[in-house]
Amino acid sequence: MDSRQFWDARYREKPGSWGEDPNIFLTEIELGGLSTAVDLAGGNGRNSLWLASNGLRVENVDISPVALEQFLERAERSGVSHLCSTVAADATEAAFSFSPDLLVIAYLQLEKDQLAQAITNAIGQLKAGATVLGVWHAVENLERGFGGPPNKEVLVSEDQLRELVADYQWSDLEIKNRLRVVQTDEGDKVAIDVVLFGHLAV
Ligand SMILES: C[S@@+](CC[C@H](N)C(=O)[O-])C[C@H]1O[C@@H](n2cnc3c(N)ncnc32)[C@H](O)[C@@H]1O
Repeated sequence: MDSRQFWDARYREKPGSWGEDPNIFLTEIELGGLSTAVDLAGGNGRNSLWLASNGLRVENVDISPVALEQFLERAERSGVSHLCSTVAADATEAAFSFSPDLLVIAYLQLEKDQLAQAITNAIGQLKAGATVLGVWHAVENLERGFGGPPNKEVLVSEDQLRELVADYQWSDLEIKNRLRVVQTDEGDKVAIDVVLFGHLAV
């Protein structure tokens, strides 16, 4: 089973896997002045929907056509479909249909070389001054955090991420591990994410 088939099957079986709410770190972003966004590996769209409900034009780029179909249905139900578009493609080579003000990458689980390709491909399509938010399950999550994939190859460290984005000019850039509270039937649990937030230089 290839990656597209794996994720298609996952979305067919469990469309509610990531919940309705946007990622907490996305909601911390000041959206004033931002008009367009690409949600790379946006899945069935909880983050895209939140951005569209805040008036941004958003493109959800994901390898899973099933996830994107679910996203468009949700966008229709939420009355924001006029702001939403999709691209079904692999993040390592996907072409966005516009150059966004904001790039969001949330929990794209790829091995290091592929992740490097995906980041290079995405940042290469941004305009000067663009805002970038990236969130991954941190490598520390495996031993000490809740949830996330058990495969260490797709977990990310602060140092790895710094190395991956070192070739770009940033006007500001912060990369650090952040704790995220996850509500479960057994009470609150804590996950460890690594979060990249910054602006490309103008
Ligand atoms: C854990 S889900 C996160 C979904 C969404 N970002 C969120 O936070 O709700 C990972 C997503 O990455 C997508 N994905 C996996 N490999 C990909 C690739 N090579 N290119 C594009 N998307 C990919 C999957 O289809 C899935 O939607």
